[in-house]
Amino acid sequence: MILKSLKFENFRNLAPTTIELSENISLFTGENAQGKTNVLESVFYLSTLRPIRPGHDRELIRFGAESALIEAVGTANGREHTIRIVLSANGRRRISVNGVAVKKISDYSGSVKSVLFCPEDLQIVKDAPSLRRRTVDLALCQLRERYRTALSEYNSLLKQKNTVLREKDHSLYGMLSVYGAGLANAGAVVVSLRKKYCDALSAQARIVAEELSSGRDSLSIEYRPPSGVDPDASSTDIAAALAEGISSHLSREKEAGTTLYGPHRDDLDILINGRSARTYASQGQARTAVLSMKLAEREIFLKNTGEYPILLLDDVLSELDASRREYVLNRINSGQVIITSCTDDIVGEGRRFTLAKGEINVSSSGQ
Ligand SMILES: Nc1ncnc2c1ncn2[C@@H]1O[C@H](COP(=O)(O)OP(=O)(O)O)[C@@H](O)[C@H]1O
Ligand SMILES: [Mg+2]
Repeated sequence: MILKSLKFENFRNLAPTTIELSENISLFTGENAQGKTNVLESVFYLSTLRPIRPGHDRELIRFGAESALIEAVGTANGREHTIRIVLSANGRRRISVNGVAVKKISDYSGSVKSVLFCPEDLQIVKDAPSLRRRTVDLALCQLRERYRTALSEYNSLLKQKNTVLREKDHSLYGMLSVYGAGLANAGAVVVSLRKKYCDALSAQARIVAEELSSGRDSLSIEYRPPSGVDPDASSTDIAAALAEGISSHLSREKEAGTTLYGPHRDDLDILINGRSARTYASQGQARTAVLSMKLAEREIFLKNTGEYPILLLDDVLSELDASRREYVLNRINSGQVIITSCTDDIVGEGRRFTLAKGEINVSSSGQ
């Protein structure tokens, strides 16, 4: 979907307003803490139904307000759609599309798709596995409804299992095998789709990294599934292998008071010229690797859906050197892109907005 307009009421610090986006590049400039990331977050939320940083929806509501509204008008397959999301301080969320209430998330997901690249992403290479898993999860949840459902089931069972393990309540230990069976089945879908996605990401990111580094860096990404699992096997076989791993770890988990085994501990190996980027990559190489992964993600969305996702570039262009920045700007001629920046010299084209204390103003209405 291409977003034509966005309307906010009580969304973070943004003043109530409606803005008309460019179908190509929209650029938001302003000093720090004025609300630039908040604008991107509204689009991120429309596509993932999550805040950018792990947290609660209520944090999106303006301090002291009872509810927040994001309303987006967009076009998909030649038709216009109006999406309204109302978040309430009591935790309720109401979504409607073209005036019809959305009852199940599965009926909603899939219309707006986005890929976000923000400064924190530069830590994907060096940081703990959770950031790398999150990157994969955010993409797959948008691309495969089956994945989103399986992951949410997995996480909910994991939470229940961990409660029993943490409280060491022996009377509930009988439930552990029930949770184990559910975790193995949901986990098998997660593992299988993560593997396929990582293979596609690796192939695509390798091409971009090669171009970005003038052939110096050969990038590959390898999925690290739970031990004892062949992620290329059938879902049934993966589930059986997971079930075995789950039961063989159980006694240690009872001691530890938490779940030690399963796809919630998966990782990706990012390799540059065959060596672990986490250990050996220079700052510049790590930057190229992440940028390659993000641009690759965009291509994977295009292949899977026939349309580029909305690319959200949050304050990252000014951190790139001139040649990488040029490369990115050349790649974003097609597809919708929303860019934020503290400086005003980023792109020649596009519709420009300035942001000050949550007030958004159009400074140039170019396409
Ligand atoms: N729920 C909220 N209500 C009101 N203001 C908020 C809320 N959440 C964040 N803010 C404010 O938004 C501002 C940060 O906006 P942000 O989009 O991150 O700025 P930047 O322009 O640097 O990207 C901060 O001043 C912060 O206090
Ligand atoms: Mg910001």
